[in-house]
Amino acid sequence: MRVLVIHGPNLNLLGTREPEHYGTRTLGDIDEEMKALAGELGLEVSAVQLNGEGEIVSRVQEADYDLLVINPAAYTHTSIAIRDAIVAVGKPVIEVHLSNIHKREEFRRVSFVSGVAVGQISGFGTQSYLLALRAAADILSR
Ligand code: DQA
Repeated sequence: MRVLVIHGPNLNLLGTREPEHYGTRTLGDIDEEMKALAGELGLEVSAVQLNGEGEIVSRVQEADYDLLVINPAAYTHTSIAIRDAIVAVGKPVIEVHLSNIHKREEFRRVSFVSGVAVGQISGFGTQSYLLALRAAADILSR
């Protein structure tokens, strides 16, 4: 079962970016941890980081995966285009956030992706991604 993980804009800066919200692990660390867990869960995981909204839309449209795990980062709160791509492709989606978007600024409480995702995991740091992979394995085993 193929799981695609998309990390959205500015997540390439993890490690040094606002550690009070996002911790000190780098994106490379997160991808390594996901790879290790994917092996245990029997999932084929590939991960990509994209800063552009259109780039994310194009990658979602490729549809070469069984399930998408996505941290749309700031586009979570703005992007109808990413939401529409998800609906168009019709694959199950898990929305992930490192920080708890519901206890930060008001504008972060709105997600255009949540309404078309299986669910949202928010606030557990790196664990948010690992929990998403566990959920993915469960969804794909049904
Ligand atoms: C984020 C939360 C977003 O509000 C923010 O724009 C990000 C990261 C998170 O993982 O907590 O870039 O998606």
